[in-house]
Amino acid sequence: MPARRNIVWEINRPMSRYWSAVVHGLTPYVPGEQPKLQNLVKLNTNENPYGPSPKALEAMRAEVGDSLRLYPDPNADRLKGAIAAYHGVKPAQVFVGNGSDEVLAHTFQALLKHEGPLLFPDITYSFYPVYCGLYGVDFQTVPLTENFGIRVEDYKVPNGGIIFPNPNAPTGRLLSLDEIERLLKVNTDSVVVIDEAYIDFGGESAVSLVDRYPQLLVIHTLSKSRSLAGLRVGYAIGHPDLIDALNRVKDSFNSYPLDRFAIAGAAAAMEDRTYFAETCRKVVVTRSRLVSELEALGFEVLPSGANFVFARHARHEGAELTAKLRERSIIVRHFKTPARIAPFMRITVGTDAECAALITALKEILSA
Ligand SMILES: Cc1ncc(COP(=O)(O)O)c(C=O)c1O
Repeated sequence: MPARRNIVWEINRPMSRYWSAVVHGLTPYVPGEQPKLQNLVKLNTNENPYGPSPKALEAMRAEVGDSLRLYPDPNADRLKGAIAAYHGVKPAQVFVGNGSDEVLAHTFQALLKHEGPLLFPDITYSFYPVYCGLYGVDFQTVPLTENFGIRVEDYKVPNGGIIFPNPNAPTGRLLSLDEIERLLKVNTDSVVVIDEAYIDFGGESAVSLVDRYPQLLVIHTLSKSRSLAGLRVGYAIGHPDLIDALNRVKDSFNSYPLDRFAIAGAAAAMEDRTYFAETCRKVVVTRSRLVSELEALGFEVLPSGANFVFARHARHEGAELTAKLRERSIIVRHFKTPARIAPFMRITVGTDAECAALITALKEILSA
């Protein structure tokens, strides 16, 4: 009976009357689908097809025990130490969070809300405008070039901050470190955030620039190249004063964003350089084979520095191909908007076998 009574309430007076005013205006991010069905070839959310480092799994198993009754280290010092050692920076230059989405959220609130508009590409990670809505950050999008590239000249205008992923998502296109440095040389009055979620699949990290450019913040995730999307760990590297701002927001929000498993597993993953290098290498090798095979089927594939490719076919729409692949239990990601990218599919680089299944299915679809 209580359920029925709820329905009557909904009709008479919407439950949203209890919402805070800000909630009415939010347009939440829509994450890629995580289907419950088994036996799918899942190439839609850029997860790594190889498992996490066995050393990370071992470190997490070792955390199962009585110590779980105690809170974790609020500063995650062990993990910050491992990240600092990997990148050759000081622990005071490192901030960690519950996935890079949380690190990004704190960054928007702590560093990117100013009088001038925040600049980011018109085609990019679609969480950025969502954070702007949540935190009331004024923003302006900057169109990508005709070839879906970022032109740094276009960002040389007054602004309250700049953010873009490198490689960009969902295009996969990479910007060189020289180009990023060219931007940093002129844009000194606001923070420049480089979201390097996919940098380990062939790009050169801007972390090497943080000691020379105090306005630079570089954000990484362990979800992609370290195969720990399920653990939720991300981090930022920058000048200690930028990190201080992030810590002030974090400690006003959640003192313990990383649990004991996350701290132990992520630290071990950062330390296991051999496994990391080998799995990244395998993804890159499979990516180049996948690109050649897609091109042989008549696809145009944008140059990718990521663990996914962005591809369109001259005679078939992205939505149509995505739906037909789905009928064959292969899931890729399609974006309806903006219109410029509607013809494309974003395909995560899976194992060789998964990519072979994709190519076989596309051959069937295209020859039907
Ligand atoms: C460009 C970009 N940044 C950040 C993220 C967030 O990653 P996570 O929250 O898993 O660390 C993603 C996830 O797909 C992404 O594509």
